Amino acid sequence: MWTDYKYLGLVFISFNYQRGEIQKDRRLTMWLAVVLGVLPLLGWLLWWWNDIWYGLVTASLRTSKGGTKLPPGYMGLPIIGEMFTFLWYFKILKRPDDYINLKRQKYGDGIGMYTTHLFGRPSIIVFSPTATKYVFRDEESFILEWPNVEIVGKTALVAVHGKKHARLRTFVSRSINQPEALRRIAHIVQPRMISALKSWAKRGTINSYKEIKKVTFANIGMFFASFEPGPTMDALGQAFIGLVSGIRSYPLNIPGFAYHHGLQCRKTSVTIFREELERRKKNIDDGNAKPMNDLMDGLMKLKDEDGSQLSDIEILDNIISILVAGYESTTLASMWAVYYLAKYPKVLEKLGEETMSLKKSNNKELVTSDEILKMKYTMKVVDETIRLANIAAIVFRTTCQDVNYKGYTIPKGWNVMLWVRYLHTDPDNFNDPMCFNPDRWDALMAPGTYQVFGGGSRICAGNMLARLQIAIFLYHLSTGYKWELVNPDAKVTYLSHPKPEDGAEIRIQKL
Ligand code: HEM
Repeated sequence: MWTDYKYLGLVFISFNYQRGEIQKDRRLTMWLAVVLGVLPLLGWLLWWWNDIWYGLVTASLRTSKGGTKLPPGYMGLPIIGEMFTFLWYFKILKRPDDYINLKRQKYGDGIGMYTTHLFGRPSIIVFSPTATKYVFRDEESFILEWPNVEIVGKTALVAVHGKKHARLRTFVSRSINQPEALRRIAHIVQPRMISALKSWAKRGTINSYKEIKKVTFANIGMFFASFEPGPTMDALGQAFIGLVSGIRSYPLNIPGFAYHHGLQCRKTSVTIFREELERRKKNIDDGNAKPMNDLMDGLMKLKDEDGSQLSDIEILDNIISILVAGYESTTLASMWAVYYLAKYPKVLEKLGEETMSLKKSNNKELVTSDEILKMKYTMKVVDETIRLANIAAIVFRTTCQDVNYKGYTIPKGWNVMLWVRYLHTDPDNFNDPMCFNPDRWDALMAPGTYQVFGGGSRICAGNMLARLQIAIFLYHLSTGYKWELVNPDAKVTYLSHPKPEDGAEIRIQKL
């Protein structure tokens, strides 16, 4: 009996053992199936999710014929899209142009557009001169949509479209970008530039970016609203920092979040300018108005053909939006001019010959805008600086209808990113593009290759003013000072704007 039981026990054990083995085998097979089959499938799905979703599913839903053909490209992972690749090239490798070079190698030049998914939205990258020109011109299909536009103001130039935009542009352009305004502004900005340069030379070593920013802000205060340095300008400076980070933030209107703070800072900025506006209007009513010769005065006085004037809020929104558009851009461009001239002494020498000859012939401390704009080489240095600095690397548009371009569809509601930076660094458009060579401007550029100020009706409203300010700054710098970079090999960061890591620190002294 005992042996029977033992036998049965052994059979039972062996049966259980075998069952255990079979179960183990099954589990192993299951895991193998997961590892070799399901996981790769999931990975594959994840990898291609955006392309499947936007390229097949929504594309077929969009057209009853299912004929939507997107430009070539890759749309990346769900939600994230190609953001990591973008950051990899811009932030880690610090070779932003290779992001497009890689795509050109993979997909060819095609129609000058690629499909991608960036900044949380399905997007089209536009990188060729022809395609860029096409997008800039078709303003009915590709519209400008500023993020968090309520922070700059809903009646600002950048926020309005069509006829309203055309009307406002005339006002803004007459106040800051046309010869009469330029003559006036040229006169206003020089005293602060001259005294800043003197103080830099006394200190010996300065951070160009930080110091130029201070001068630019002081000048903006002066030619926008005749504000002298002091508590009002300090409050405006503080508010401006919060306002700009609010524009770039996620729109959560909750205390503690950048967007909420941005709205508060807008209120502060509006209050500062409104008080000044009210004071001026009261002076007009009391018959005590003095001509102020600044942007606010210009915007208050201008009338269009049918005699209508800007409302108070239009004046305030536009002052704030022009401040946003012009402050950082002018600062960065001037800083890059200092940087490139330090790196290219032959260019500086040639610039010095031209500026010195003007200084000797005119024998006055201040120059006029007419004199400056006639200086051919100086203006070439300015244009070359703006080309290579690529301050506005990408210009954004949104499609408000499906657009068919050369047989491909750019779907409605997508982000269209005009990669203007690449136009200026592509050897197909500029010979030896990374070399700072103002003489390249002796020849005519191929059409559509120089888009530093954007294009179409939205072309920079302060383009002449920006060029003039940089040229005036270079005139005073090159006729009175010599300087060198403290860290000539400092790395350049590209986000949010291109800038040497040390802010172009220089040693500067009087000539
Ligand atoms: C080197 C300096 C500058 C660069 C590279 C630059 C670049 C640009 C670009 C690329 C645009 C077009 C944006 C778009 O189409 O979405 C633009 C628009 C604009 N810029 Fe500038 N800008 C500079 C200086 C200035 C200055 C000094 C001002 C005024 C003080 C200014 C005022 C504006 C305004 C108001 C717009 C909007 C135009 C509109 O929507 O009609 N910019 N800028």
